[in-house]
Amino acid sequence: MTAQIINGNDLAREIRKDIAERAAKLTAAGETPGLAVILVGDSPASMVYVLNKERACKANGIRSILEKYDASFTEEQLLERIRVLNADPTVHGILVQLPLPDHIDPRKVIEAIDPAKDMDCFSVFNTGMLMTGQPRIKPCTPHGVMKMLESINYPIRGAHAVIVGASNIVGKPMSMLLLQAGATITICNSKTRDLGHHTRLADILIAATGQRNIIKADMVKPGAVVIDVGVERDENGKLWSDVDFPNVKEVAGYITPVPGGVGPMTITMLLENAIEAAEKKLQSRQKQ
Ligand code: GUN
Repeated sequence: MTAQIINGNDLAREIRKDIAERAAKLTAAGETPGLAVILVGDSPASMVYVLNKERACKANGIRSILEKYDASFTEEQLLERIRVLNADPTVHGILVQLPLPDHIDPRKVIEAIDPAKDMDCFSVFNTGMLMTGQPRIKPCTPHGVMKMLESINYPIRGAHAVIVGASNIVGKPMSMLLLQAGATITICNSKTRDLGHHTRLADILIAATGQRNIIKADMVKPGAVVIDVGVERDENGKLWSDVDFPNVKEVAGYITPVPGGVGPMTITMLLENAIEAAEKKLQSRQKQ
């Protein structure tokens, strides 16, 4: 069996048509959606991510405010920038690219962002809303994965989803969205004994560890949906991911490629969050 590919580029393109239309309507109503992205330091990977985000905003009618600071930018300076952006009515969303330099506490920074503008859904408030089944903002990567599962009409209710990686960015919020969609969840972490025992039980297998090729063909149940979130570029520029794609695709029913899988969906969900924040703002303005 060879797996069907879930093409993130095609799906993202489709969803971005709707996003661009909504952005145009917002602009016509005087509420041009604005997304601020802050990058501190000069990590090449983070630079690529934020430039991709900026390009995607511009291509879809969202005003992008990209603020780049060198690695010596202090925590207090960053908190001050967030206070200014929180108070700016033309900025609907704020994203601070992680990781931050060691002298800046990411928790302090995330909690300083107005929860209504927290485009990542990283704050304690937004995480709590998600956990209690009333999300105001959905976390970008997990939301993108849910859209990919929807695109193949996967019957999530009752399925067993195994998530490898328990990060705050992907693994934990992913488990909440899948649980709320009716799946049974296993979350594995770096200490899990006999990882393959768990992954072989998965109808939906989500790999989000950042460990190269951790998911091998003999760890996958035939016909499973395999979603590869981990991505890393090595010193020679070669792209690696969590899933041993050439071999796993011979066992899985569906699989996401890298590149062109989850990555474009994450950015698309970020754009959608910015649009939704601007639409909420417009609605509250119209009520006044
Ligand atoms: N660094 C890697 N992934 C992400 C993400 O989704 N959001 C932010 N803010 N930083 C990241």
